[in-house]
Amino acid sequence: MVAKKKVKKKDHPSLDIVSSHGVELSGKKIVLCVAGSVAAYKAIELARLLMRHGADVTCVTSNAVTKLIQPDYFKWATGNKVITKLTGELEHIRLTDYNQSDLVIVYPATANTLGKLANGIDDTPISTVLTVGFGSKIPILMCLAMHASMYDNLAVKKNIEFLKNKIEFISPQMIEGKAKASEPEDVLEYVLKKFGSSSILKNKKVLMTAGPTIEHIDPIRVITNQSSGKTGVGLASELISAGAKITFVYGPGKEKAPKGAKIINVLSSKDMFDAVKTELKKKFDIVIMAAAVADYIPINPSKNKIKSSKNELKISLKKAPKIIDQVKKYQKDVLLIGFKAETNLTKNALIKSAQKKMKESGADIIIANDIGKKYQKNPNYNQVLIVDGKKVTSSNWDKKEKIVKFIKKEIEKKLE
Ligand code: CTP
Repeated sequence: MVAKKKVKKKDHPSLDIVSSHGVELSGKKIVLCVAGSVAAYKAIELARLLMRHGADVTCVTSNAVTKLIQPDYFKWATGNKVITKLTGELEHIRLTDYNQSDLVIVYPATANTLGKLANGIDDTPISTVLTVGFGSKIPILMCLAMHASMYDNLAVKKNIEFLKNKIEFISPQMIEGKAKASEPEDVLEYVLKKFGSSSILKNKKVLMTAGPTIEHIDPIRVITNQSSGKTGVGLASELISAGAKITFVYGPGKEKAPKGAKIINVLSSKDMFDAVKTELKKKFDIVIMAAAVADYIPINPSKNKIKSSKNELKISLKKAPKIIDQVKKYQKDVLLIGFKAETNLTKNALIKSAQKKMKESGADIIIANDIGKKYQKNPNYNQVLIVDGKKVTSSNWDKKEKIVKFIKKEIEKKLE
């Protein structure tokens, strides 16, 4: 029997445009609620603009909008499923429960949607997504569009007044007696400002290592490890979206290198060390060593393929230099962040190991994690301890996408 060729699931073709104009929003999840105004067609343009700057956009549409524009059009635009109704999938929780997304935009926002949010009414997908997001403190940006008379309505004014300091508004443009939704470009500019200028990481120069290394024992065979590079790539994307400038020294990880970084691909621990040394001739603010570097490397790799005729094969290995230990010798003022991976330790033992690593390497922070039994069962999840001397902060056991956001916030705190 011929084995069926496994077809790799490809990204939606529309995602090709992601980050084509910039990476400021990369890693940002934006929920775009499109309420029933004729300006709804402009939401397609807004979605595409946000994506072109790196955002992942999911649309929620009202009944009135689906009569004007087929949901497939929004699916085409964003590559994501369009939410037109709430089902057993709990779409509202998935989208806007605590930390599930970074921003909810209502574009265009009608007096009806505004009123529902202000009065705690949730009887449609949009109002429910908003109610959940409002409760879980996800930033909400409303771009109002309605007739001038509606805008002057005292009830509408009262609702705006109530929400004024609790959510953000982009004022409508008053044209031809209508309070028209602002242009997609204006909303984009607002969103870029909102995410870009707020982080202390903006314009910080960061050197990172990530992924595994491979060490040859002969021209064909290698010693390596199972690091996918996921945490390193995810963290780099978070830092990029906060405005940091990243140089990414990347071993052969499975994860796609982060968009918007200067990528230096390497294979062996020696390549990685050489690349780091070369880069450290330039000034960096932060160095993050997330790579799973080989600890031992073959002493004399065979020049030719090792034959299978031997009954036993001994390979001699020697200790590899610790790249992290050299960083402060090159730049003593850099903020050095290392990782410490251990297996099946108690929390206390893991903290002790991280503190020891801090001393040995001169790192300012060590991010410790246990990659033992629990992790092996589900390597898309992790829990990290941020060890800064005696101060230890723990993340939850969570998806790696959430873990990297947590690490980014801790780095920001350290810089403040
Ligand atoms: N590291 C490094 N160079 C190496 C090995 C590790 O720079 N040759 C860095 C890693 O990138 C990480 C930190 O050192 O930031 C700790 O790596 P880890 O493998 O967890 O621990 P080790 O120091 O290698 O200690 P051990 O293997 O004995 O647990």
